[in-house]
Amino acid sequence: MSKVNAPKGTGDLFSPQIEKWQYLEDKIRSYFSRFLYREIRTPVFEHSELFQRGIGSETEVVQKEMYTFADKAGRSLTLRPENTASVVRAAIEHNLLNDMFPLRFLYIGPMFRYEKPQKGRQRQFHQFGIEVFADGSPQVDAEVIYSAYNFLKEIDLRSISVEVNSVGCDVCRPGFLEQLQTAAREKKDALCVECQRKTDTNPLRIFDCKNEKCIDTSNSFPKITAHLCEECAVHFDQVKAALQILQVEYKINPRMVRGLDYYTKTTFEIISGQLGAQNAVLGGGRYDNLIKDLGGPDMVGIGFAAGMERIILHLQEVELEPRKKILVAYQNPEIQDAALGLCETLWRSGVHAYMEYSAKNLKKQFKKGDKLSANYTFILGEEEAQNNTISVKDMSSREQITIKQEELAQWLKKNI
Ligand code: HAM
Repeated sequence: MSKVNAPKGTGDLFSPQIEKWQYLEDKIRSYFSRFLYREIRTPVFEHSELFQRGIGSETEVVQKEMYTFADKAGRSLTLRPENTASVVRAAIEHNLLNDMFPLRFLYIGPMFRYEKPQKGRQRQFHQFGIEVFADGSPQVDAEVIYSAYNFLKEIDLRSISVEVNSVGCDVCRPGFLEQLQTAAREKKDALCVECQRKTDTNPLRIFDCKNEKCIDTSNSFPKITAHLCEECAVHFDQVKAALQILQVEYKINPRMVRGLDYYTKTTFEIISGQLGAQNAVLGGGRYDNLIKDLGGPDMVGIGFAAGMERIILHLQEVELEPRKKILVAYQNPEIQDAALGLCETLWRSGVHAYMEYSAKNLKKQFKKGDKLSANYTFILGEEEAQNNTISVKDMSSREQITIKQEELAQWLKKNI
């Protein structure tokens, strides 16, 4: 029979990789609770309309990358390519915008984009992210950037840098887009076919193009930072001032418009010097119209999402503290029940213990112990069973001692 493999761009996670994921997930939950984020879990598929309206119909994500399908009742559904639109949808649907305080959400989960897979880029990938609603102050933008940057530092990610920009608002962006459009039309022949189309439909998206020639050409185009209205300029200045107080070093990148249409004012990315082409570890920004555009009240928002596969690539060298393991071995089948009872005591005490039910002789059980890399082997022989004792073998020093059953708790406290 031929075998069936996982679809292209997806992967299976198992030990020892999975321990790194668990480590990362634990760190995320404990770190972001400092800032009063609470977890939210939304469905992995939503009505396609949510993303078309939320992310923008001209974006690469909506145009080319969504996994959209009709269900048996003919509804158009899409595997979520990102989670901001879903969190906004959930907050509106469950009236959280009135009922909850603070409006701070954390999520961890799989996202789906039909992209060309390569190192750090998959079709099913995982993000963790945060969203803050109802606070338009520039300081909250700086706090969000700080929390992201400081988290990556705390988990010891090296060679990372912060890039920030402001993409303006409904007041300043239309005028800027007109100028951008004029500049792009003048240099039309130097742009790829796709960017020629974007010139008419959504010229800001030209800055997302990875084509070298388009990057070169658009370098001479007007920069949004030079066209901000008074309010956006002041907001951006205050974000920068707060970043300084929070000791976040950053670079201004006026080309960074992010690939999603919902952004207003502050945008940011954290870039890694160790990841090659897919170097954005994390990206986010302010979205002051999204909640309203998805049918909610006129309420502002800001957040970011981080690519967990990309963080895991950095975590490769992290030495995770191994958990101590005990193999419980028994001399013959008559003592197996006593060994099972001992295992139960260990499990109940929270100890990582294992016993082999089918390998009846000690030699075979010891071999399994080596495979497990057990730290200790507890041996129950006839003598031990009779005297209510346990022989304890330290697998690294090979030393063996005998302890009384009633001394077990004390021994565990000292050694495990
Ligand atoms: P995004 O920039 O599209 O933003 O994605 C955020 C991060 O997800 C990227 O920086 C990258 O690390 C990771 N990522 C994206 N696509 C892939 C992929 N195909 N394979 C592996 N990793 C990937 C958003 O998704 C916004 N929702 C962020 C946000 C939250 N903005 C405001 N709130």
